[in-house]
Amino acid sequence: MLSYRHGFHAGNFADVLKHFLLTYVLEYLKKKDNSFVYIDANAGAGKYLIDESFMQKNKEYLNGIDKILKTEIKDKFINNYLNLVKTLNPNKYLTIYPGSCWFAQQMLRPKDRMHFLELHKNEFVNLENNFKNHSKIIIENEDCYKRLVKLLPPIEKRGVILIDPSYELKDEYEKTVELIENSLKKFNNGTYLIWYPILENKKFEILTNALENLNLKSYSHIQMIIDKHAVGLQGSGVFIINPPFSIKADLKHSLQLLFDILKNKDSDSKIEFKNSIQ
Ligand SMILES: C[S@@+](CC[C@H](N)C(=O)[O-])C[C@H]1O[C@@H](n2cnc3c(N)ncnc32)[C@H](O)[C@@H]1O
Repeated sequence: MLSYRHGFHAGNFADVLKHFLLTYVLEYLKKKDNSFVYIDANAGAGKYLIDESFMQKNKEYLNGIDKILKTEIKDKFINNYLNLVKTLNPNKYLTIYPGSCWFAQQMLRPKDRMHFLELHKNEFVNLENNFKNHSKIIIENEDCYKRLVKLLPPIEKRGVILIDPSYELKDEYEKTVELIENSLKKFNNGTYLIWYPILENKKFEILTNALENLNLKSYSHIQMIIDKHAVGLQGSGVFIINPPFSIKADLKHSLQLLFDILKNKDSDSKIEFKNSIQ
C-alpha cells in the first residue's frame, strides 16, 4: 500500500535541483534534430496546487522554489527552468508548482514522445486529468520495477529516463539499483536521471555506492546537503548516467548559485559535483 504523495513536497529544495537538471538535460537533447522519448518512471501528478492541503501542510515550497523566485538571477540555465515555472504562474504569485511530467510536456517537440508510469491509483487519476488528449503521451497505472525495462530500448534509440522513487519500501534502494542495471542492459545509451533523498539514516548510500561501482563510462553526480542537522530531509542528490558532455562547464556556476540560495545558512551544508568528464 503506497502512502507517499508528492504534493507534500512539491517545489521543495529537492524538487528545484531535480527539475533544474531535468530541464537542462531535455534542452540539450533538443539540440539534435532526431526525435527522442522521455520516460517518467515515477510520474506523480504533473501539477501541484499551492492552496491544496498537501502543499499547505509543511509548506516545503517556501524553502525551495519560493526562495529562488524571490532572488534576481542572471544565469541562463536557471532562467530556462524558472521561465517554465512562470509560464504556469503568469500572475505575480506562485499558485501551481509543476511536476516533472509537466516540464517535459512543455519542452518536448511534436516529434518527441512521452511515457509516464505512476503506480498510486489516485495520483494516476490526477496525472491522467492533467494530460488529457495528448496524442504523444502514454500514461500507465503500472509498477516501474516491472514495466520500465519492457519499454526499452525505445524505437528512437534516444531517450531521457527519470527514475524518481518515493523510497517507501524497505528494500527500495536495492530495487532501484536492480532496475537501473536491467535498464542499462537494454538501453545503454539512454540518459538516466536518478533522484534520491539524503536522510539521517544514510540509506541512499546503498544506491550511490552501487552506481559508482558500475564502472559507467559517463556520469555526473550532484549532491546538495541543505541542512545536515535536519531531522527529516537534509538534502538530495541526482545521479545522471550519460549526461550531456558539457554539463560540468555549463552548470558548475548555476548549481553553486542555486545552492547558495537554498542552503540553510545556520547549518552545515555543502554541494558536491562529481563528473566522469572533467
Ligand atoms: C517523488 S514522486 C514523483 C515526483 C515527480 N517525478 C516529479 O518530479 O514531479 C514518486 C512517485 O512515484 C510513485 N510510485 C511509487 N512506487 C512506484 C512504482 N513502483 N512504480 C511507479 N510509480 C511509483 C508514487 O506514487 C509517487 O507519485
